[in-house]
Amino acid sequence: MSTTTNDSTALAATTAKLIDGKEIATNVRKTIKEDVEKLIKDGKRAPGLVVILVGDRPDSHTYVRSKKKTASDLGFVSIDCILPASTSQEEVIEIVRKYNNSDEVDGILVQLPLPSHINEESVLNEIDITKDVDGFHPVNIGKLSMRNRKSLFEPCTPKGCIELLIRSGVQIEGKNAVVLGRSNIVGLPVAMMLMNRNATVTICHSKTANLQQVVSQADILVVAIGVARMVKADWVKPGAIVIDVGMNTVDGKLCGDVDFAQVKEVASQITPVPGGVGPMTIAMLLNNTLISAKRRQGLDI
Ligand code: GUN
Repeated sequence: MSTTTNDSTALAATTAKLIDGKEIATNVRKTIKEDVEKLIKDGKRAPGLVVILVGDRPDSHTYVRSKKKTASDLGFVSIDCILPASTSQEEVIEIVRKYNNSDEVDGILVQLPLPSHINEESVLNEIDITKDVDGFHPVNIGKLSMRNRKSLFEPCTPKGCIELLIRSGVQIEGKNAVVLGRSNIVGLPVAMMLMNRNATVTICHSKTANLQQVVSQADILVVAIGVARMVKADWVKPGAIVIDVGMNTVDGKLCGDVDFAQVKEVASQITPVPGGVGPMTIAMLLNNTLISAKRRQGLDI
C-alpha cells in the first residue's frame, strides 16, 4: 500500500508550468546569429567582445570559457584577456583603456569578482559607457534607476529574468513584484527593471522584518539571495511566478535559492535550476554586444 502511495506521489504532475530557460536562450541565440549573419552580408563588422579575467577562480574561468565559446559560435569576434592574480589595478585599467580605444571592440566585460587588491569600482568606472555591455558603469546603472532616462545597456542576468517573464506571457505592469536580494549584479538592477515596467516593487534582504510575510505578497518573485533552497512553499502566494537566480552546490548538485520540489506545487510558473536563468545570462550579454555593434556602426537597434 505504502509503496503505491509513494509511487503516485512521485508521479504527481508538476503544478507549476516550467519556464524553460534553456529553450528560450536557444531561441534568443538563434536570432542573434541570424542578425550577425545579416550584418556581415550587409558589409558591416561582426560584433567584437573582450572579456577580461583576473586571477584563478575556477567558477570565473568556467563562465569566461562559456562566454567565449558562445560568442564564437554566433559569429562574434571574441577576445579573452586572461591575467594572473598578481596583475595590478593600474595594469587592468591600462588594458580597459586600450580596448576603449579599439574601433573593432563593441563590448568590454570585466569578470567579477576581482582579486581583493583591485578596487572594482575604480575599474568599472574606466569602461567606456558605450561599450559597457554588462551595464555596471555607474552612469548606466544610474540612468537605469532614474525616471525618464535610458541606460545604454541593461545588466545581463536581470535582463535574462525579464526576458523569461515576457516570453512566458507574464504581464509585469501593475503586479506586486518582490525581489529577494539587493546585489549590484542582480537584485538591485532587476528591481529597477521591474519598476521601469510598471510593477510595484519591494526589495527584501537579510535585515527585512517579517520576511516570509513580505515575500508571500508577491505576484512575481525574483530570488537572488545566495542561500540554498531558502524559499519554501509557505512563503509563496498560490499562483505566483517564481524566478530563481540562485546557483548553489549541495551534495555535489546544483540547486537554487528556492525549494523547487515544494514551491512548484504552489507557483503557477517557475524556473528550474539548472536550466532557468543561467542559460539566459550569456545570451543577454551577446544581445547587448550586438546592440552595441549596431549602434556603433550607425544602424537601427
Ligand atoms: N560575475 C557573476 N556574474 C557576472 C556578470 O553578469 N558579469 C560580470 N562581469 N561578472 C559576473
